[in-house]
Amino acid sequence: MSSFRDDILRGQVALVTGGGSGIGAGIAEALAAHGAQVAICGRTQAKVDAVAERIVAAGGESLALAADVRRPEALAAVMTAIEARWGRLDILVNAAAGNFLAPAAALSANGFGTVVDIDLKGTFNACKAALPLLQVRGGSVVNVSATLHYAGTPLQVHAASAKAGIDAMTRTLAVEWGPAQIRVNALAPGPIAGTEGMERLAPPQARARMTAQIPLRRFGTIAEIAEAALFLTAPASAYMTGAVLVVDGGQWLAGTNFLALLAE
Ligand code: HXC
Repeated sequence: MSSFRDDILRGQVALVTGGGSGIGAGIAEALAAHGAQVAICGRTQAKVDAVAERIVAAGGESLALAADVRRPEALAAVMTAIEARWGRLDILVNAAAGNFLAPAAALSANGFGTVVDIDLKGTFNACKAALPLLQVRGGSVVNVSATLHYAGTPLQVHAASAKAGIDAMTRTLAVEWGPAQIRVNALAPGPIAGTEGMERLAPPQARARMTAQIPLRRFGTIAEIAEAALFLTAPASAYMTGAVLVVDGGQWLAGTNFLALLAE
């Protein structure tokens, strides 16, 4: 059950990158359930189609587009399709991400670069492509970040570096685009159950020990991250920009390093 009124985003058009699964899909469905018309892009057409079908079945409006955020021209085509369908864009959620566990010593330049290309450069590419539409009326950008880079997280030099860059980009764009009434905030989830990220980063045998390190003693849910994204797109956060909203059950503050367990 959401804490927000169902029509809170009525009349708004949103785009969620990486909307075909996990946190991106959850955010897309939550935005639609609260009245937004939601475009979803991801690399695999079948995955974005499935999410769009769920949104339409629930009474919402959706547009599913195959696009890799590493390709600016693909994002330009996404914006053209959104403009043709709805004539506007108010909300951009950058949820596309790639990750895997690898010690820096075993990580190739291409492995490091691939995650930076998807997470960091992909976020820039989408922000840049969306700007012409967002600046017509102002809008809200939500960049999905992480807490990996607040401390030293082993096996994550690629993702931590990319997410640190996303936080820096969030602050810079908030300042540059504030006068156009475009708010730019980041959302930093901790360990979230049922996501590809946790499938990749948290092997089942390590999960009980990981949970024991989290002050709230559990993984978060996709719905809880979607609620935070709703807050960052809703009028409730109208005077917030350049912020990083941490939604992690207190995990990073506890000082115990989440993935240090795996590096042991
Ligand atoms: C070391 C690896 C590797 C691994 C890939 N590479 N997997 N290196 N260990 N496990 C290297 C490859 O060897 C290659 O380098 C380079 O990365 C590119 O690999 P490709 O497979 O060609 O790339 P691509 O098909 O584009 O796939 C991108 C990907 C993949 C990031 C590698 O994992 C992916 O598509 N992920 C998408 C979904 C995802 O990861 N979601 C989870 C996000 S979790 P070489 O040198 O061999 O050419 C998240 C949460 C963070 O972001 C915070 C959690 C708390």
